[in-house]
Amino acid sequence: MTTASQTSAEEHGVQTAHRPVLVVDYGAQYAQLIARRVREANVYSEIVPHTFTTEQILAKNPAAIILSGGPSSVYADGAPSVGADLFEAGVPAFGICYGFQAMANALGGVVARTGLREYGATVTTSVGEPHSLLSGVPATQNTWMSHGDSVQSAPEGFEVLATTAGAPVAAFVNAEKALGGVQWHPEVKHSDFGQKVLENFLFEVAGLEPNWTTGNIVEEQVERIRAQVGDARVICGLSGGVDSAVAAALVQRAVGDQLTCVFVDHGLLREGEAEQVERDFVAATGVKLYVANEQERFLSALAGVTDPEQKRKIIGREFIRAFEEAERAIIEEAQAAGEQIKFLVQGTLYPDVVESGGGEGAANIKSHHNVGGLPEDLRFELVEPLRTLFKDEVRAVGRQLGLPEEIVGRQPFPGPGLGIRIVGEVTAERLELLRKADAIGRAELTAAGLDDEVWQMPVVLLADVRSVGVQGDGRTYGHPIVLRPVSSEDAMTADWSRLPFDLLARISNRITNEVDGVNRVVLDVTSKPPGTIEWE
Ligand code: XMP
Repeated sequence: MTTASQTSAEEHGVQTAHRPVLVVDYGAQYAQLIARRVREANVYSEIVPHTFTTEQILAKNPAAIILSGGPSSVYADGAPSVGADLFEAGVPAFGICYGFQAMANALGGVVARTGLREYGATVTTSVGEPHSLLSGVPATQNTWMSHGDSVQSAPEGFEVLATTAGAPVAAFVNAEKALGGVQWHPEVKHSDFGQKVLENFLFEVAGLEPNWTTGNIVEEQVERIRAQVGDARVICGLSGGVDSAVAAALVQRAVGDQLTCVFVDHGLLREGEAEQVERDFVAATGVKLYVANEQERFLSALAGVTDPEQKRKIIGREFIRAFEEAERAIIEEAQAAGEQIKFLVQGTLYPDVVESGGGEGAANIKSHHNVGGLPEDLRFELVEPLRTLFKDEVRAVGRQLGLPEEIVGRQPFPGPGLGIRIVGEVTAERLELLRKADAIGRAELTAAGLDDEVWQMPVVLLADVRSVGVQGDGRTYGHPIVLRPVSSEDAMTADWSRLPFDLLARISNRITNEVDGVNRVVLDVTSKPPGTIEWE
């Protein structure tokens, strides 16, 4: 069944007027990285799966196409292939690693197993006439390789531009047709001139303009939100995190007081975070904010609970209930004024869209989860102004909108908050103690200038453990605090951060001196896997 709001959401399904550089994903996790590097060059990019036909790809009106790397051999059974017709459409195209071989194969070049597998740092040497694809790149350069097959001869009409010990054809170009490719991975930082080569393709070979800028993103999204929302009212939940804050700030910029934000304070945030939302975010944006002070509610629901999954369920359930109560109050207030809340803002990011199926026909509408009280058929249409953006772009947009750095630069923090950083029962006293220890850890990390290097540093209270200590003249029997600093790219895997010893000593001294009830600070030196980042 199609509802009226569905139709209108589909009309707004196209998220930007920029013609994309389409990255065709051959499935080795490189596609997102390539798309990000293209965006870093200020060119808009999107990812599509390799199952897309030439017709589907061209229907997206791409400004250029990049074929990503992938794990297959072009000769393996069921290996994804690319039709030669894609290269006849007059759209500039660039192949990377597997994509380079797939392009060579489709256009009549020869790809074969040489028996010489290249993996990791590899010296690549330019050959033949200099070409703009490799302009600004030295004759020998370090590149990052990962291949078994290699291109033996380039297709007709292509010039060979580079070679390595294991790849006779490591780069080629057909300038007339704006087609080219490289065997190495230019998107990986270990390729010294990788970004330069990508930019050469975009600007020199494909002739694109660098017009995807933070200023343009804000302007465009503001226009789109206005077109979608009209004069209806909008509601948005704030979590204290960067995504919901930036999404709300964009909607506020677009439709002002038609937006009401809801902040459910569950009492599980870190020191100063509730104030950042209630005071600093409001001051920076002028947003209309409804605060639900629900600390007591969460504490009593969590009383006596020690199982981590149980805690998560309780916090999730209470959160939805509290949010919906707030929502009902706002709906009633709007109704009294003869208005209707039609839209709900969500801070969905581009990686979520890609990972949940590429956003191709993905539902733009969700029937809002409701409990009691609300009419069964109540629906909000979603406003998702961050749907095209990567996390670093969201932060840049937040800065452009003048949001406080504490919000924009915030490390990832789990929804259940400190509730899953107390190993044992959650109580008001324990939260207070953990908040103090965490604030010390965060302040010292920032003072040491390590915020960018450390992905996040959970500070964990082992509330069920006590150990003997000595402080002043007396024996103590207190709780340990665990520091869990990790470095990571995406939280899927992580390594423990090698923080300087003097920094660790400072944090430890301060916590044991300043936080009553803690007499020991320990460092978690486990990577993920096998350990998760959080302790619960
Ligand atoms: P783990 O502990 O699974 O954490 O290695 C990976 C990332 O996810 C965050 N995390 C959560 N985020 N709700 C959230 O919103 C949760 O229940 C949750 N558990 C873990 C964690 O902080 C890290 O960034």
